[in-house]
Amino acid sequence: MALYSLVRPLAFMLDAERAHRAAIAALRLAPARKPPRFPKSLETTVAGLTFPSPVGLAAGFDKDAEVAGQMLGLGFGFVEVGTLTPRAQSGNPKPRLFRLKKDRAIINRLGFNNRGQIDAFERLQRCSHGIIGVNIGANKDSADRVADYVSGVASMAQVARYLTINISSPNTPGLRGLQVEGALDDLLAAVRDARPVGGPPLFLKVAPDLGDGDAKRIVRAALDHGIDALVVANTTVSRPALQSRHADETGGLSGEPLKTLALDALRQFRAASDGELPLIGVGGIADADDAWRRIRAGASLVQLYTAMVYEGPGIGRRIAAGLAERLRRAGFASIAEAVGSE
Ligand SMILES: Cc1cc2nc3c(=O)[nH]c(=O)nc-3n(C[C@H](O)[C@H](O)[C@H](O)COP(=O)(O)O)c2cc1C
Repeated sequence: MALYSLVRPLAFMLDAERAHRAAIAALRLAPARKPPRFPKSLETTVAGLTFPSPVGLAAGFDKDAEVAGQMLGLGFGFVEVGTLTPRAQSGNPKPRLFRLKKDRAIINRLGFNNRGQIDAFERLQRCSHGIIGVNIGANKDSADRVADYVSGVASMAQVARYLTINISSPNTPGLRGLQVEGALDDLLAAVRDARPVGGPPLFLKVAPDLGDGDAKRIVRAALDHGIDALVVANTTVSRPALQSRHADETGGLSGEPLKTLALDALRQFRAASDGELPLIGVGGIADADDAWRRIRAGASLVQLYTAMVYEGPGIGRRIAAGLAERLRRAGFASIAEAVGSE
């Protein structure tokens, strides 16, 4: 944190997308560090994978899988790379990434800018340690979006410890339509069939903007098709009261103003699944209290992105230490015991 408090003012002088590129470039130069040792109480098994800490880096920071090893070394218990689409694409016109400093938030309408799955595959092949999940999506100009997910599962299964089917980005027109009944069943049946025998578990990432009955419907489809966990949630298209000058930009909102909505969505999914489907809580998590509340509301794992922009890359490790302390104080021997205990 001390170092980051010096770096942050410089980074914030750059526009947000340049600062992000500079951060990735700097991390690429950093020597790969060994991940820290986490307290044994934080080790947790979800979908057959054993995570050394339940605090992960959410998708979108390392879209092209350039620095996953470094992020594990900085103290994230797992890293989700992507979203990766079958073919490279440049995303939406710039500017498309905005810091809302007063709100400790970000609005992005990047639109899945990435260098494509084949390009990332080779880098991921070299990552042999730690849990790196691969988040996959569809190309914007794809004539058959389901086919893009099917090919993504088939081509990335070999290098992913888990795969996340992302149908909840607000920045690819029509993508969230795949969450609708019928379309969701067809998609999940297809990706399940595409998963090679013995392949990685499949997670489904959902939007926090839910209508009546959506959580129940999505849980039923996920259970019917053998989805292994839900990631709750992506950015929101809603606009809670915001103070920053970029508040009216189009795109997905993340960070502090998403926190209540994401926690509420998690509770809805917990109620709908009754503990039968592991949940990964994401959205506005910025400290150990936020992570603890999310776990007690039913999350087996948590992820964050926006708070790292404001607090620095040591945040995963700090939250992990805070969680170990909260477990001890509450008298739980493991994260699994605390899940859903609220
Ligand atoms: C700049 C930016 C880019 C993102 N890109 C992706 C993405 O490519 N795929 C995805 O599933 N989520 C993406 N997300 C969403 C995050 O993974 C996360 O779900 C969301 O930001 C809420 O968490 P947070 O409040 O901790 O940031 C992105 C978020 C941000 C801020």
